[in-house]
Amino acid sequence: MKVLVVGSGGREHALCWKIAKSKMVDEVLCAPGNAGTATVARNVAVQATDVDRLLAVVRRENIGLVVIGPEDALDAGLAEVLREAKVPVFGPGKKGARLESSKVYSKDLMERHRIPTAASRTFDRSGAAKGYLENCDTWPQVVKADGLAAGKGVYVCADLEEGRAAVDAIMEEKRHGDSGMRILVEEFMEGEEASVFAIIDGRTILILETVQDHKQVGEGNKGPNTGGMGVLSPVREISTRLHRQIEQRVLIPTVHAMRQEGIDFHGVLFVGLMMTEGGPRVVEYNVRFGDPETQALVRRWKSDIVPVLLACAKGELETVSPPEWDPRPCVGVVACAGGYPDTYRKGDVIEGLRQADEVDDVVVFHAGTAEKDGAVVTAGGRVLCVTAMGQDVEGARENAYEAYDKIRWEDKFARRDIGLVIREEKPAVTQADDN
Ligand SMILES: Nc1ncnc2c1ncn2[C@@H]1O[C@H](COP(=O)(O)OP(=O)(O)O)[C@@H](O)[C@H]1O
Ligand SMILES: [Mg+2]
Repeated sequence: MKVLVVGSGGREHALCWKIAKSKMVDEVLCAPGNAGTATVARNVAVQATDVDRLLAVVRRENIGLVVIGPEDALDAGLAEVLREAKVPVFGPGKKGARLESSKVYSKDLMERHRIPTAASRTFDRSGAAKGYLENCDTWPQVVKADGLAAGKGVYVCADLEEGRAAVDAIMEEKRHGDSGMRILVEEFMEGEEASVFAIIDGRTILILETVQDHKQVGEGNKGPNTGGMGVLSPVREISTRLHRQIEQRVLIPTVHAMRQEGIDFHGVLFVGLMMTEGGPRVVEYNVRFGDPETQALVRRWKSDIVPVLLACAKGELETVSPPEWDPRPCVGVVACAGGYPDTYRKGDVIEGLRQADEVDDVVVFHAGTAEKDGAVVTAGGRVLCVTAMGQDVEGARENAYEAYDKIRWEDKFARRDIGLVIREEKPAVTQADDN
């Protein structure tokens, strides 16, 4: 069977790497891919949102399974177009994608189905939103742009002044374009954040191993948010008991809600949660694998991933055995281009990749890389994710940083504290654009 992975980041390199190991798979294709996917798959020069051309590739190549990485491709309706053409697809259609691409839609759905989340109000005019904020007597309040905003559309506002500024940024300055046509103002939830990944085929729920990213750019969780500076799996704080609670209170009600709303969901639901005193409450839904979480998950996923992805695509998840997980921890260190998450340079030659890959238990996944004149060059803010296994977290960290230190380009940087247990401070409100 041939498998097509859609996307071009570290998540897609990790998926290609894992899928290529499957006995069921003859060839992996990646559209458009990067310099890393090219080492395990055949890159096809078609953008992830170019639905018509992707359909043509799938037909020409007789693809047996399509795995869609990025949310914009899902939001463009790629999954349903392929499904109409009778191709098994891992990834939800446009309606399911709205759970991520419209925060107003997902909030309404949660309210209709009594899924625990922050109370909120929706506004389509800035004056009304500011009027509401003027009457708020509890702060902070959280102001969110409705649509996709590359992780930059959420503002945790400490007081009225910040609240007004957030409304203006979204609705008057239109900083997130049409994504800011509507906004949510929501109650601030106190607690620890956690996330859970569940593969869902419309009925059956398969919860994956625990994994946590490190959002902020600076060590000790300081500074602005990024697409993710590193990853650790498993996360000891998230117990099996907690997973059961999340399943009962959030995942099962969400699957019921999807069915009642006519969402035929085949893919991964990545739920952002706040563990409040009253139990888990949803911060947001994402409808695709996380990056860099996927890089750690595929390293620990010992059994073949393809039967699970294919069964999910076909609605037969209950028939496959759950993944076998490597009990050893995995640490992933993201190597970034200088200046990230602000402006950064592209096109620097990367050296030492082979030496890094030779370190024990290390796999280097490419995120923002390209090939130029036979060399691998930087092509994004997050350039690589150096993943390592170890007997314990400290061992995994040592391997990861030993490999990271062998990689060279000007201005490379990473956080040195990935995998260390840090009690979270409240994250900053902006996140960086990526690749
Ligand atoms: N109601 C809330 N209470 C507390 N913090 C919140 C709330 N909503 C969002 N946040 C914070 O803002 C971050 C980003 O919000 P989220 O809804 O996940 O949007 P996105 O990931 O699309 O930017 C969250 O990870 C969380 O730290
Ligand atoms: Mg989020």
